Amino acid sequence: APVRLEDYRPTDYLIDTVSLDVRLHPTATRILAELAIRPNPAGRAGAALELDGDELELVSVALDGGALAPGAYEASPSGLTLHAPPERAFRLSIETRVNPTANTKLMGLYRSSGVYCTQCEAEGFRRITYFLDRPDVMAVYTTRIEAEEAEAPVLLGNGDPVERGALPNGRHYAVWRDPHPKPCYLFALVGGKLGRVGGEIVTRSGRKVELGVYVEPGKESRAGYALDALVRSMRWDEQAFGCEYDLSVFNIVAVSDFNMGAMENKGLNIFNDKYVLASPETATDADYAAIEAIIAHEYFHNWTGNRITCRDWFQLCLKEGLTVFRDQEFSSDERSRPVKRIADVRALRAQQFAEDSGPLAHPVRPSVYREINNFYTATVYEKGAEVIRMLKTLIGPEAFKAGMDLYFHRCDGTAATIEDFLACFAEASGRDLSHFSLWYRQAGTPSVAVRTAYDAEDRTLRLDFAQSTPPTPGQTEKEPVVIPIRLGLVSAQGRGAPLKTADGRTLEDGLFVLDKTADSLTLIEVPADPVPSLLRGFSAPVRLEQELGPAELLTLFRRDEDPFNRWQAAQTYAMRLMVRAVEALRAQQPPEFDQGFAVALGELLAATDDHAFAAQVMALPSEADVARELGREIDPDAVLHARKALRSFVGQTAGDRLAQTYSRLETTGPYSPDAASAGRRSLRNAALDLLTAGDPGRGIPLAQAQFASADNMTDQIGALAILAQHPGPAREEALAAFGEHFAADPLVLDKWFGLQAAIPEAATLDRVRGLMRHPAFSLSNPNRTRALVGTFAMANLSQFHRADGAGYAFLADMVLQLDGSNPQLAARLLGAFRTWRSLEQGRRAQAETQLRRVAAKEGLSPDVSDIVTRSLA
Ligand code: ARG
Ligand code: ZN
Repeated sequence: APVRLEDYRPTDYLIDTVSLDVRLHPTATRILAELAIRPNPAGRAGAALELDGDELELVSVALDGGALAPGAYEASPSGLTLHAPPERAFRLSIETRVNPTANTKLMGLYRSSGVYCTQCEAEGFRRITYFLDRPDVMAVYTTRIEAEEAEAPVLLGNGDPVERGALPNGRHYAVWRDPHPKPCYLFALVGGKLGRVGGEIVTRSGRKVELGVYVEPGKESRAGYALDALVRSMRWDEQAFGCEYDLSVFNIVAVSDFNMGAMENKGLNIFNDKYVLASPETATDADYAAIEAIIAHEYFHNWTGNRITCRDWFQLCLKEGLTVFRDQEFSSDERSRPVKRIADVRALRAQQFAEDSGPLAHPVRPSVYREINNFYTATVYEKGAEVIRMLKTLIGPEAFKAGMDLYFHRCDGTAATIEDFLACFAEASGRDLSHFSLWYRQAGTPSVAVRTAYDAEDRTLRLDFAQSTPPTPGQTEKEPVVIPIRLGLVSAQGRGAPLKTADGRTLEDGLFVLDKTADSLTLIEVPADPVPSLLRGFSAPVRLEQELGPAELLTLFRRDEDPFNRWQAAQTYAMRLMVRAVEALRAQQPPEFDQGFAVALGELLAATDDHAFAAQVMALPSEADVARELGREIDPDAVLHARKALRSFVGQTAGDRLAQTYSRLETTGPYSPDAASAGRRSLRNAALDLLTAGDPGRGIPLAQAQFASADNMTDQIGALAILAQHPGPAREEALAAFGEHFAADPLVLDKWFGLQAAIPEAATLDRVRGLMRHPAFSLSNPNRTRALVGTFAMANLSQFHRADGAGYAFLADMVLQLDGSNPQLAARLLGAFRTWRSLEQGRRAQAETQLRRVAAKEGLSPDVSDIVTRSLA
């Protein structure tokens, strides 16, 4: 049955302390839980106590040390009920048995490459012991972990270490105590053979904290960057948000089987090793940036998520949207702010806009769910972060800071709601945020249409704005939202003009707030021919429909003081060319392009010293971007060919400039992952990529040479990715060499799997099938599966959406196969169908057939069943 926000009520019982004794064993781990329980004054007196369970085996249960009468309770794998518990505080002792080796769902206690680890968010703790498994039940935890010392020399828990020692028969134990009350989803333990790199930090108020990053033994040399990122995160959070760490130990453990990116367990973050391990030879610049961001994200959760947690899972964005905002700010401060913004907006459009326009659309704070694991989405995370960013834009940085301080002060130690959060900002700013809060409840991406009229005589510029949001599942009627639009005027001659409104004010910070269906703004004393630069910095997560001609776009591209809009102007220009090319191709005409874009690109390459920015300009909108722009009746083959044609045209037109850029940016000296060096490499690789697209005869030998001589993964895989786009022996030789060289390095092989899965050729599906038989491939490892199957389905538009439906059938097979072992992963992959209704009708029919085939399977998991049902609705 679906869970609804409106049905929330507090629990009838509270659990104040939890004492766990976990005896690790590969197939029969025993968990003795002692729970101090009392009636909740806010609950119903005399109610039954209903503890959650999931695939649990009950060994014994006792109340205040005494056995329970058989009729007093009822136990099943999915719950333990005490019919009439005492109407006073009492102690419940529960012993359960679980099999970590057989736990392929990777929720609860499981083993990854022999290491015992846990994942409890959202509802995994109930797979360890019976509990009130919901975030508003907060307790103080003590964990004793016992294991065979040879099997698990390292034993880690939440909080501070209290005690450890040897036991007879080669066993040993460790006790950890976490003094901070927390919900059970933040519980974690780890036991295994692990290598460690350590550090130490003294917090602002003088607390000494020992830092540890634990990895597979032998991989310690790849853990240094994660540790460095952790130290920088801790410093930054003190300075930027006044948040200080609150335990004597902070540990991070990398495991190789993990459903998501990482998990913020109190004092014991557990990571997908992909987001910890890095060396120049095995990780790309993008990997380094992702490690930095995710290390920061999980650490930042210590305040936004752990100290202040969520009342219920509908409030997930309370911690996730805010923490994404915080990690984005961190990366912006550590690297280039404009480049980070461009990258984030690219990702937002690719993931969240796609989600928001299809059958899986939901509000940032959903009001109903069947399976909470399916709501760890781009909407909750990335749009959730955009909403925070808009809040800051609307009330200003000082009021935002005051609101955050108030939130930390008032809500610390509580399980809070979005209303609690917003109340702090309303109070700090003196503003009414009730209209703004609609962003949390209303799904769909708003469109803002703008018309501009310049009156040369009066020297006034009138901007007419109109907003609308398309219907989404369950929400047919939409209301206008509060849209902060940052704007400026750019003239063909040079500097931007000041923004004076008709009533004689200057528009503060260039901010116009559109909060009605339609509104207009008149600017006075506007010099001739201004080009309005709207939605600067992407000030709201909306689609902007602004009629700008090629000359105006080029003016923005060349002169806008807002770097985001310079980049956006180039993207819009390229997008137009591709959309027109798709139309031409579908009418059996050859695509034609004007020189404007390529010429401007050449100018940029000649002049810029912001390499990372230039690389972002050169990366044309993706096939999926073009498909979204088209919106309906999409023919992915036409999109592929239109994009190829433009890349080839630009590569030819700007060929010499690209070649110069490529040779000019050659680096010497040892690899460094810093943003400036990474920027150089990204521009150099982007230049080679376009050069090769325009003239393979010129580019392929360069790519081959780079592939052979590169001393770092960024340049090596960059060259390989270019070679991969051009069929022939050069490609196959390079792929074979790479596969052999990294045969023993699973994380690098993932790049190799992914690269091949993304080749936009008809033979790719067979190649993917072949790679599934590769000795290093395994469907039981989520990283391998996502690299091969996930990349094929999510990052190879033309081949997943093959006209014959074979791509869809393949994915449906994979989903059905995986659903038995890892439903969360299966449901994620099935999300690849989320755009199916916008395809041309032949493909739409093929996709529907496969979705129906999945839906018809008996015994589907709640995870897959939820996605397939919503996809077909
Ligand atoms: N809270 C984690 C993060 O944002 C994500 C964990 C999600 N896990 C899950 N099983 N849905 O980093
Ligand atoms: Zn998070």
